Amino acid sequence: MTPGVERDAKHLPVIAERGSNAADGESEASLTEAPVDRLGRPLADLRISITDRCNFRCTYCMPREKFGADYPFLARSELLSYEEIAKLAGLFVDAGVRKLRITGGEPLVRRDLPVLIKQLRALDDRQPHPQPLDLALTTNGVLLPRLAQELAAAGLNRVTVSLDSLEQAEFARMTDSRYRVEEVLDGIRAAEQAGLGPIKINTVVRKGQNEGAIVELARHFRGTNAIVRFIEFMDVGTSNDWQLAEVVSAREIVRRIASEFPLEAIDANYPGEVASRYRYRDGQGEVGVIASVTQPFCGGCTRARLSSEGKLYTCLFSGVSRDLKAPLRAGASDEELARLIRGTWNRRTDRYSELRGEATMKLPKVELSHIGG
Ligand code: GTP
Ligand code: 5AD
Ligand code: SF4
Ligand code: SF4
Repeated sequence: MTPGVERDAKHLPVIAERGSNAADGESEASLTEAPVDRLGRPLADLRISITDRCNFRCTYCMPREKFGADYPFLARSELLSYEEIAKLAGLFVDAGVRKLRITGGEPLVRRDLPVLIKQLRALDDRQPHPQPLDLALTTNGVLLPRLAQELAAAGLNRVTVSLDSLEQAEFARMTDSRYRVEEVLDGIRAAEQAGLGPIKINTVVRKGQNEGAIVELARHFRGTNAIVRFIEFMDVGTSNDWQLAEVVSAREIVRRIASEFPLEAIDANYPGEVASRYRYRDGQGEVGVIASVTQPFCGGCTRARLSSEGKLYTCLFSGVSRDLKAPLRAGASDEELARLIRGTWNRRTDRYSELRGEATMKLPKVELSHIGG
């Protein structure tokens, strides 16, 4: 195994080195030029997971059989502190990152999140661009009524809320929780009132489980400012027993919505946007589909992921990572850390979704609850 490249021993089976994240060449990484990976992709987004815990147990993400009472969640001391996160995020901003997304697990279960948001907002001062950083959060929404105002005041720009069904029994089955749909809808309203809109809603579609939610959610949020994005069920992690047969393709999702509410495709908001956008022909807003399985979008993937324990992943489906916490805690200089980050990105070759097949599917992968969606 390449020194410094870690396999997540606690959570993943060990296999032979994949080779895409070899550790050589870091000391030569340039600190002046923006890093570009081996496929020509710049580093533009950083998704920061701040906890591996969650108050839901969505079947496609943290199935209760695998994430039960005895699951070895990270201890507090293993998590990066907010100061450590902000310090690393600053180095990513120096390297070209313009968008920071806070994820989990469920990020709102970690205490004092507004403190971190303030620290990240303060990074505006060091970035060379005049526009403020785009600071977003992915959440299941139920704690938003309590926290939305404070998060907005701290400098958060917007939130994305996961919601898989409007029908209580179906929602309870998908999220394996006792929360009510109404609590998520209250969270969405609280976020809107706090100025965190337009809200995006993420809906994972699993064949035979919540297909009815496709048209129902489209209907419910049409004519509001919220944008629903339907996500193809993905083989992320190794716990969710993913099968291709359970994927409803984005094409089929669009067909079903369009049969009720005519749609037309519209351009992406920015290069590399993961969702394909459609607008209602009657002017009642838009929906999106995220087709990671049937129409992979690795070519424009500019996203790095920092796990709550300080490991840098260059792909959502990766089984290897670069540990940043150990050098950080051992007193590495900013320059040394910046070289680790940039060197890792420069060597990146990930394109898991494009290669997805028999061979890649058997590889160990980090759990989504460790690096966010
Ligand atoms: P904005 O456009 O900034 O609002 O965010 P986004 O489109 O990146 O959306 P979000 O972060 O909410 O991502 C939506 C979902 O898309 C995630 O929860 C994942 O399921 C999926 N997704 C996001 N990034 C990737 C990626 O790099 N690869 C794959 N395969 N899926 C991704
Ligand atoms: N497939 C697709 N999307 C997923 N998410 C979590 N697990 C999966 C999966 N297996 C999405 C959730 C949430 C975000 C954190 O990731 O919908 O919006
Ligand atoms: Fe929790 Fe989100 Fe995963 Fe559901 S998808 S278990 S809400 S982290
Ligand atoms: Fe990016 Fe990996 Fe997703 Fe492809 S599979 S879009 S490389 S995170």
